[in-house]
Amino acid sequence: PNLYMFDPAYLSTAATKSEITYLDGANGILRYRGYPIEQLAEKSTYLEVAYLLIFGELPTTEQLANWRHDVTNHTFIHENMRKRFVDGFHYDAHPMGMFTSALAALGTFYDDAKLIEDPEARNHQILRLIAKSPTIAAMCYRFSVGLPFNVPENELSYPANFLNMMWKVGDYEVDPKLERAMDILFILHADHEQNCGTTAMRVIGSSHADPYSSAAGAAAALYGPRHGGANEAVIHMLNDIGSIDNVPAFVESVKRGEGRLMGFGHRVYKNYDPRAKIIKEAAYDVFETTGKSPLLDIALKLEEVALEDPYFVDRKLYPNVDFYSGLIYQALNFPVEMFTVLFAIPRMSGWLAHWQELLEQDQKISRPRQWYAGADTRDYVDIESRG
Ligand code: CMC
Repeated sequence: PNLYMFDPAYLSTAATKSEITYLDGANGILRYRGYPIEQLAEKSTYLEVAYLLIFGELPTTEQLANWRHDVTNHTFIHENMRKRFVDGFHYDAHPMGMFTSALAALGTFYDDAKLIEDPEARNHQILRLIAKSPTIAAMCYRFSVGLPFNVPENELSYPANFLNMMWKVGDYEVDPKLERAMDILFILHADHEQNCGTTAMRVIGSSHADPYSSAAGAAAALYGPRHGGANEAVIHMLNDIGSIDNVPAFVESVKRGEGRLMGFGHRVYKNYDPRAKIIKEAAYDVFETTGKSPLLDIALKLEEVALEDPYFVDRKLYPNVDFYSGLIYQALNFPVEMFTVLFAIPRMSGWLAHWQELLEQDQKISRPRQWYAGADTRDYVDIESRG
């Protein structure tokens, strides 16, 4: 009857027009608001990048100072979130499950959460979500290991505050090199155009749900192993390989279709993922401080073998962002269950930038059609006659 495109999973649908992130998978190019990811990772900070993503321009000195001050002033969360909400979870609840539901719960604490037409109220929610994400993440982790919660220390930088809330016991002090590595990882994960989580954010946001509920939906999408969970799988894979000597045999088994080389290949990148290059360098800086991961040599050998093997070359399979990020997270002491949470904290700014853009575009509610392939019309059969 009417003309519809049949495009399950939106493989070839541009669902929106966007000015936020440019991604050229064939040539391995990633830019936020026009700025190459390499320059941002080298020269910028996560908070500055978050400002750039949301407001479209790099901030002036004064704008950055105000932004930092505003974010810093929203890092605390209501005591009931910890005492009643987080403390109510089962002792072995997954931190990402806790984080996702805490985001939705957070919105119920603010009576302006639903005022999405009001730019001032919108800015409030943006600040709160960016500021409170590390606090919630650290709180979920501390609960999961039975440690008391550390309150935010707002004189610290955004990544240092997070690391402090995670690890502070006694006279713990954040190492500046590790703080910078965390900041770089946050920058690299801040946005990646219309990925599954961001698409979820836009779809939910298009119904004019509040941003806390929309962000919870985006986080739920990220929670899936096909999306945010691959770095965890890389660590398991490297552990299973066990030693450099086993690399060639493992690669052969991948080529026989007995498994995938995790951390390799990407739906959009058909070239080296530019984030993977930066992460690989950052990994060496971290290892200087923490000591080398025993899995690094296996990862390097695996990369060397795969990049020369026609199977991977012909299919344009290169390391993606997840190939080395897990090794850094592990060196920083994060348990694998926290890996997706570490992805979600910085992705919050990307989700919110897209949410804001969607509202400014006054986009209609997302409502795709379908290709109906079910039964033709038929008459209802009484239960007595159904056998
Ligand atoms: N190891 C071995 N073979 C692979 C791999 C891999 N990692 N990835 C793709 N292939 C092969 C696949 O078997 C197929 O071969 P053939 O043509 O002989 O059937 C060919 O390459 C094309 O694969 P595809 O599944 O059609 O590619 P896709 O674009 O649908 O999949 C992917 C992309 C990321 C799901 C896939 O490359 C993969 O499973 N990689 C491993 C998991 C991973 O590292 N995921 C992280 C993605 S980056 C993080 C994020 O942005 O969320």
